[in-house]
Amino acid sequence: MKSFIRYYGGKNLISDKIISMIPKHKTYIELFCGAGWILFKKPKSNIEVINDKDQELINLYFVIKNQLNEFMDQLNLIPISEDLFNIFRYQKGIPFEDLRKVLLNQRGIPKMATITYYNIMNSFNGNISNKLHFNIDKNRVSSFVRFYKTDWLEVRERLKEVTILNRDFRNILELYDSENSFFYIDPPYLKSNEDYYKNTFVEKDHKELLEILNNLQGKFILSYDNDNRIRSMYKDFNIIELKEFEKDLLITNYDIPDKSYYSTSLKGIPKGSMEYKSNWNNSNCPYCDSRNIKKLYERFYLKKGGRTFKQCGFKCRDCNKLFNDQ
Ligand SMILES: C[S@@+](CC[C@H](N)C(=O)[O-])C[C@H]1O[C@@H](n2cnc3c(N)ncnc32)[C@H](O)[C@@H]1O
Repeated sequence: MKSFIRYYGGKNLISDKIISMIPKHKTYIELFCGAGWILFKKPKSNIEVINDKDQELINLYFVIKNQLNEFMDQLNLIPISEDLFNIFRYQKGIPFEDLRKVLLNQRGIPKMATITYYNIMNSFNGNISNKLHFNIDKNRVSSFVRFYKTDWLEVRERLKEVTILNRDFRNILELYDSENSFFYIDPPYLKSNEDYYKNTFVEKDHKELLEILNNLQGKFILSYDNDNRIRSMYKDFNIIELKEFEKDLLITNYDIPDKSYYSTSLKGIPKGSMEYKSNWNNSNCPYCDSRNIKKLYERFYLKKGGRTFKQCGFKCRDCNKLFNDQ
């Protein structure tokens, strides 16, 4: 499914590629979630956490999650949220209705969320900063019309079991790092204009992110600008160029072996039993022998140790099975 908002720096266009590279994991953590494009499009993980330092944005997630109907009005007012957790922790004994007021007062829910959504969807580029301005485009209708087309129940359902946090990235890395954790990391880019997000991300932040990632136990995919400084900072990791998206780099701290290539991205792939065929383009579907094949992804290039690997995926239009070549 799609994210419910457009967002400056949102990873909609390269989300399929990122998702196809996610390794097996137990806990999925999206450190700088923004519109959460990867979360919304990927299959569910056992444990899922999204985080962004922007309070207004996170408030929007809370409101979507908690305002749908009378029954849920009670239970969904207990999102898996740090703020509510602390309210419970420090204000024990508070009546439920009063708790609701505390939450509303603290966050400005839902009025603030309405304004946030309205402004993002009507702004130029999905800009959420304080300098956002109204988008005037003679060729396109405002993105706000998506409000009428969004399946809001589906969005709420997807967020139901997701832990939503509003912290600094350093703290999340410290709390959630483990061998079974997978982090999707999409910080503000090195060359990104500081006007686009409310929280500025400065030199020190970029350096500290690298320092922590150098010692991370879990696996990560990091998206960054295709910039020489980033290449040099992350020279010890896998750096992947996306041919069609030259401005972006994907960086991982793990190899992308063929078997995990599709492991969490495409349901139905027979794990471990996959047959790999070289020059697959010249062959039939390994399952039903059909030649009616659809290419799923553009080729992308994985550079490691001076060597370049190519990977690609296919779907059989007749039996609908997925497979890849190498
Ligand atoms: C490039 S955007 C993420 C876009 C997102 N991946 C998507 O697909 O929509 C970067 C995000 O980092 C957030 N951010 C900036 N500084 C942060 C920090 N210190 N800790 C956590 N999040 C931060 C911004 O609010 C912004 O939403």
